[in-house]
Amino acid sequence: MRAVGVDVSPQQLVAARERWGWTPGLQLHQADAISFLREDREGFAAVYSVYGAVWFTDPARLLPAIRERLRPGGRLVFSQRPPVEGCYGCQASYIPRGADEDPLVVKRWDYEPDAWERLLKEHGFSDVSADVLAAPPGNRKTGTLIVRARA
Ligand SMILES: C[S@@+](CC[C@H](N)C(=O)[O-])C[C@H]1O[C@@H](n2cnc3c(N)ncnc32)[C@H](O)[C@@H]1O
Repeated sequence: MRAVGVDVSPQQLVAARERWGWTPGLQLHQADAISFLREDREGFAAVYSVYGAVWFTDPARLLPAIRERLRPGGRLVFSQRPPVEGCYGCQASYIPRGADEDPLVVKRWDYEPDAWERLLKEHGFSDVSADVLAAPPGNRKTGTLIVRARA
């Protein structure tokens, strides 16, 4: 099988190569997810994003690109942190850099499970479900939003 990993960050690709580089058929690409999907011609049986591109890319642009590359019946599954209550849609975080530099702005897209279900259906996905899984036992209270859909 062809397994493809895509990230814009070279550091993440180094970490991925260290951890998964031995995997037969693995391809790793430094690319923006939308650009990669537009150029890939083979299509996919499944697309996963683990706190990854789906969280940090406008779904109005990324979901159609994924839908187009998933084969019929193929699955999209993604996870991310659940939204902070009342903070929905595009959210911006400021990551401090050097004293003389502006902070890095990182955008992410946060929605409640029912809003993700609506968005995915609007973009032609079916068999859609979105849930917040409870945090594992310990001090942390924030669970994981996990969303599944079929092309
Ligand atoms: C929070 S990290 C998670 C990384 C990895 N999935 C993990 O679980 O360790 C988010 C990653 O998404 C990548 N990313 C965000 N938007 C992207 C995009 N449009 N295309 C490709 N990678 C993207 C970032 O570079 C970053 O490495």
